[in-house]
Amino acid sequence: MKLLITGGAGFIGSHVVRLFVTKYPEYQIYNLDKLTYAGNLANLSDIEHAPNYTFIKGDITDAKFIDDMFAELAFDGVIHLAAESHVDRSITDPMSFVMTNVVGTVNLLNAAKNTWAAGASGFDGKRFYHVSTDEVYGSLHNPDEFFTEETAYDPQSPYSASKAASDHFVRAYGNTYKLPVVLSNCSNNYGPNHFPEKLIPLMIHNIQTNKPLPVYGKGENVRDWLFVVDHARAIDAVFHNGRLGETYNIGGFNEWKNIDLVHLLCEIMDRKLGRPKGTSAQLITYVTDRAGHDLRYAIDAHKIMNELGWQPSLQFEQGLEKTVDWFLENQEWLDNVTSGNYQKYYESMYANR
Ligand code: NAD
Ligand code: TYD
Repeated sequence: MKLLITGGAGFIGSHVVRLFVTKYPEYQIYNLDKLTYAGNLANLSDIEHAPNYTFIKGDITDAKFIDDMFAELAFDGVIHLAAESHVDRSITDPMSFVMTNVVGTVNLLNAAKNTWAAGASGFDGKRFYHVSTDEVYGSLHNPDEFFTEETAYDPQSPYSASKAASDHFVRAYGNTYKLPVVLSNCSNNYGPNHFPEKLIPLMIHNIQTNKPLPVYGKGENVRDWLFVVDHARAIDAVFHNGRLGETYNIGGFNEWKNIDLVHLLCEIMDRKLGRPKGTSAQLITYVTDRAGHDLRYAIDAHKIMNELGWQPSLQFEQGLEKTVDWFLENQEWLDNVTSGNYQKYYESMYANR
């Protein structure tokens, strides 16, 4: 099995690459990543010399590069995670989301379709797996409602609109060309290697450095949090056993209001840093709400649980403790991603290749 994983230097992708490289030594794993601000190879330093692992620096918006790579390497499968992923950035720069998330995905679909169709066994044994988000379903307002695989798409941000468009293209290629596709839509992830522009790592970093904790609006928005390693395990299950043409929703049945989550993080951090109870919570600062801020996301994950036997392995409090410990023990990682040092380092490393 020659498997292409895109976006493997990013937050979730690095956990997926690590899981596949270590669990399937008989597979050849190719990690294709542009190494944007959000991706760095320090996330994979523990497996970079594994004999079944190869890193390829490249941009999925470059159709010729993608076609040439598929022609040369003849992948059997694709797990596609590369994306622009931060809602706030999509509000200030929507076009880069259209380019990577929509155009980049279509480039990969075309390359897979054309090289697989031209091969001796056609689409037999091939699989294109598209990793997506629950944000494509829009915002829930009724507390009894959950996103199921049948929920109509209703994306509200440029990020979720670009992911929704990419999901539609993947399904359209499945329908029109019979490309063997499978998709999953996951809730908010957290854990080690999370880029510190997203809520949980940003709060950990700001608590540690005594900076204000910016809570958007009234902090009443709700997210359903899943430990990133559990998402990687779900991706393993869907890639190997998910039915072709199907979509699987992935989530932890773990809903938290932002403000409650920030208070919980403050309590954990006070304890870890030996500060008197209540110290970090004084840093909480309510700021102007995000434009078009989705109120609530909540996943109904029964399909993947019942069909593929997947379930989350960690309780939220355990996962959060592990995450806080990781950030406190990996100060150098945090300094290097926030300063842009990793990006400069890897850019210069690949500049002359
Ligand atoms: P991330 O931003 O941490 O990582 C994205 C990776 O893609 C980075 O390594 C980046 O360098 C790479 N990349 C970006 N543009 C590229 C391009 N043009 N060509 C090649 N590589 C490029 O994102 P993440 O949080 O790890 O999310 C990964 C995937 O999972 C995304 O598709 C996202 O939509 C989806 N997802 C994320 C979450 C979440 O909570 N973070 C939840 C559900 C689904
Ligand atoms: P985020 O981690 O950006 O994920 P997403 O928007 O994809 O769900 O944000 C999670 C929630 O936290 C979301 O409701 C926005 C809110 N938020 C803040 O209140 N303050 C912040 O500084 C950030 C980054 C997010």
